[in-house]
Amino acid sequence: MERNMSLIFLVWLVWLNGCFLLEVDGLNAESSKPNRLELPLRSASDLDSFGYFVSMRIGIPPKKYLMKLSTCTVLTWIKCRNECKNCSDTRFNQPNESRTYRSIPCSSSYCTSDLIPSNANEVCPKPDAPCRYDYLLEDGTRLVGTIGNDTVTVRMRGNQKVRLENITIGCTEEITSKFNKSLDGELGLGVEYQSFAGKALRQTNTTSFAYCLVDSWSPINVSGYLVFGRVDQVPNMQETDLLVGHWTWSKSYHLNVSGISVDGIMLDIPSDVWLYDPNGRTGGMILDTGSPLSWLAAPAYDKLIQAFLPSITKFPKPKDNESIALQHCFDSTTGYNETLMPKLAIHFGNGAKFEPPVKSYVMGDDVKCLGFVRLDGVPTSNIGSFLQQNHLWEFDLFNEKLRFAPSTCTSD
Ligand SMILES: *[C@@H]1O[C@H](CO)[C@@H](O)[C@H](O)[C@H]1NC(C)=O
Ligand SMILES: *[C@@H]1O[C@H](CO)[C@@H](O)[C@H](O)[C@H]1NC(C)=O
Ligand SMILES: *[C@@H]1O[C@H](CO)[C@@H](O)[C@H](O)[C@H]1NC(C)=O
Ligand SMILES: *[C@@H]1O[C@H](CO)[C@@H](O)[C@H](O)[C@H]1NC(C)=O
Ligand SMILES: *[C@@H]1O[C@H](CO)[C@@H](O)[C@H](O)[C@H]1NC(C)=O
Ligand SMILES: *[C@@H]1O[C@H](CO)[C@@H](O)[C@H](O)[C@H]1NC(C)=O
Ligand SMILES: *[C@@H]1O[C@H](CO)[C@@H](O)[C@H](O)[C@H]1NC(C)=O
Ligand SMILES: *[C@@H]1O[C@H](CO)[C@@H](O)[C@H](O)[C@H]1NC(C)=O
Ligand SMILES: *[C@@H]1O[C@H](CO)[C@@H](O)[C@H](O)[C@H]1NC(C)=O
Ligand SMILES: *[C@@H]1O[C@H](CO)[C@@H](O)[C@H](O)[C@H]1NC(C)=O
Repeated sequence: MERNMSLIFLVWLVWLNGCFLLEVDGLNAESSKPNRLELPLRSASDLDSFGYFVSMRIGIPPKKYLMKLSTCTVLTWIKCRNECKNCSDTRFNQPNESRTYRSIPCSSSYCTSDLIPSNANEVCPKPDAPCRYDYLLEDGTRLVGTIGNDTVTVRMRGNQKVRLENITIGCTEEITSKFNKSLDGELGLGVEYQSFAGKALRQTNTTSFAYCLVDSWSPINVSGYLVFGRVDQVPNMQETDLLVGHWTWSKSYHLNVSGISVDGIMLDIPSDVWLYDPNGRTGGMILDTGSPLSWLAAPAYDKLIQAFLPSITKFPKPKDNESIALQHCFDSTTGYNETLMPKLAIHFGNGAKFEPPVKSYVMGDDVKCLGFVRLDGVPTSNIGSFLQQNHLWEFDLFNEKLRFAPSTCTSD
């Protein structure tokens, strides 16, 4: 499986095509093809949402969309007119208003065999009808829509504009769960040949991408970055295996976790919690920027809570706790100091260790809560975006390595 993955990336390198246009303001367009794409990446907290987003323009004439970063989705999609309750809202796309929009026919092999989500072609009333998807995200959200290609223009840091053609984009007409109003869609970083990530890597002739997440509560004028191509290394990078071989089902980034420690003591968690089962398509642990909180399989969650309770119960329970969805919260208004909270670390198979700052897992203002959610069954645990904040995460797909290091992500 894992060897296959490498082969596929090799194939990408061979499949370089010429649909990359570079528009450099004030220079002529013959400039060489950039070997990296770097987009500002911001926290969505000022938009009353969680997670991180990039801004990109889709179509000609270009329309701006705020796209939530998702490492678990291959499909890049935007909310489209039929989903829109008030269609005078111009942020909703009318594909037929973009001169460069090309619907993908449901009879094409591109629809029937190349595209993920694979259940794309269940409905094909006539050969040139649009390719449809009915896609279940890992959090249970269902997306229904049609697929087309359009031109995407991104503005890099430093204001250079880069245009990417034939980007495959889903036009989502139905969303079963509420997708946050202020965001227009998702940028799928799940890796697959036809995805935005796949395209961006081919265009830069590279096999690595990275994102650096600013503090989750940063105002909108503060940005980190999303990079396709060469990643500037920061001090104290650690490296672990990226288990990307199991991608027949999951385009997610599975990690080889060996355990979790609290204040240096390994929790007694059965090791099979960290094993991914490709047949059952469950288990293990993934990185998930689309989920704000981190979800842990029950045996891991229970041990973690046990280890935190002595510190948490030193503080009073919140007085009014009806609106709190999380289970383990406390009133931190008197005597709280992060140094009083245990130090959490996630350990990887090769000895690498991820040690997030306390604010990434004990969160809130006056009322603070442990930012973990319990999952029953044999689920896939994840490291959500709060836990990932203030770190650089580099996905070296060719070598199947994940590198990470603490960073404020704002320096340049
Ligand atoms: C986009 O795809 C269409 C249909 O396959 C093709 O004709 C066109 O050349 C492609 N454009 C670029 C820039 O690759
Ligand atoms: C967006 O997210 C915020 C924070 O969770 C929530 O309060 C708000 O209701 C959400 N908006 C929509 C439209 O879902
Ligand atoms: C629809 O959008 C228009 C323009 O943004 C606004 O004036 C109007 O109040 C909205 N209607 C509803 C029902 O939200
Ligand atoms: C685009 O499609 C919508 C919905 O099918 C339709 O109402 C609208 O008139 C179309 N616009 C153009 C410019 O064709
Ligand atoms: C869409 O773009 C892909 C490349 O990204 C290309 O292979 C395909 O032919 C395009 N389809 C159409 C209808 O433009
Ligand atoms: C793409 O990268 C490979 C491997 O680094 C290199 O051999 C090849 O020459 C590059 N191709 C282009 C067009 O830059
Ligand atoms: C962001 O805006 C705030 C207030 O509007 C300002 O104080 C701060 O300096 C700005 N930060 C950056 C990085 O521009
Ligand atoms: C909320 O308060 C009730 C009653 O005091 C308590 O049983 C429950 O555990 C509290 N929930 C949280 C999240 O603290
Ligand atoms: C927290 O405790 C440390 C070490 O005891 C101390 O240096 C720091 O000032 C305290 N912070 C606050 C906000 O009280
Ligand atoms: C995880 O790491 C351990 C220790 O290096 C190794 O023995 C094991 O094979 C790795 N698991 C996977 C699925 O790569």
